[in-house]
Amino acid sequence: MTAHAPEILIADDWRDYQLLDSGNGGKLEQVGPYRFVRPEPQALWAPARPAAEWDSADAIFSPSSGEDDEAGRWRFNRELPQSWTLQWDDIAFVSRPTPFRHLAFFPEHSVHWRYARDYLKAHRGAQPEVLNLFGYTGLASLVCAKAGAKVTHVDASKKAIGFARNNQREAGLADAPIRWICDDALTFVKRELRRGRRYDGIILDPPKFGRGPDGETWKLEENLPELLDACQTLLRTDPNDRASARGFMIATVYAVRLSYLALAQTAQQMFTGGEWQTGEMALPHAGRSELLPTAIFVRWATSDGGREWPRT
Ligand SMILES: C[S@@+](CC[C@H](N)C(=O)[O-])C[C@H]1O[C@@H](n2cnc3c(N)ncnc32)[C@H](O)[C@@H]1O
Repeated sequence: MTAHAPEILIADDWRDYQLLDSGNGGKLEQVGPYRFVRPEPQALWAPARPAAEWDSADAIFSPSSGEDDEAGRWRFNRELPQSWTLQWDDIAFVSRPTPFRHLAFFPEHSVHWRYARDYLKAHRGAQPEVLNLFGYTGLASLVCAKAGAKVTHVDASKKAIGFARNNQREAGLADAPIRWICDDALTFVKRELRRGRRYDGIILDPPKFGRGPDGETWKLEENLPELLDACQTLLRTDPNDRASARGFMIATVYAVRLSYLALAQTAQQMFTGGEWQTGEMALPHAGRSELLPTAIFVRWATSDGGREWPRT
């Protein structure tokens, strides 16, 4: 097994989002017409912009000191609408301040949306099918549907699926072929295997810890190898080599004590052949050269995008 040189994937393709500054454990962001300050534990360095600019942001999130590293509350310096519309590429979606400190989208993920979109657009033959596990906002699902795929979107939270469906309407994709499924990701994948279903691409962004709708427990460090293995089997096989999967797999991991190398080497035990990329995802700043690291990732794809694949 080869270790791969890490790559940094930079989400530099936004018009409606900009990381203006970061430092002192925080970040200052322009999100559509509004400015936000949120905690950012990776930003150990000093901010570049004056404090007055940070202080005059439209809303500031203060973390609470408890166990839950996402909890806290927003302080609004002026009245903001409940939500507003943003756009990435040709996909419109809704952003809003959530009680979990995020703004209902994760801008660094555009590096994977681009990759999946380009892969699917190069695909010839029968309509490709994509599985988006832990799909939350549904943005990856919408990008894949817009690029011509049939999509199965899985999330354990009914509320999250409601938000994703709202984004589907916002994007004008109400008729797009997306199955919205409220289920535990691992349980769903195992069920699909029993049913003999197969996919051409799988996207997964598992949390550190989560619960399925029936109380199933998801623990990334314990369950990820099993999920990756099942995902590998769930991909269609290469018609010339039934032992090998083909298609693409994109996995993102946040905030765990896991290096990109551990993630990549685990995935490499299951997926064979194909092209690999692994490393970190990052956001560029407006007007300063440092990058803000956000997550680690591994991507794998067979490099036959564009070739006509008979169904297996
Ligand atoms: C990190 S977010 C994914 C964000 C997504 N990449 C996006 O761009 O919107 C994790 C999601 O996993 C869901 N989740 C947590 N535990 C789960 C489980 N056991 N099965 C399925 N989904 C789960 C949560 O409801 C949440 O929506």
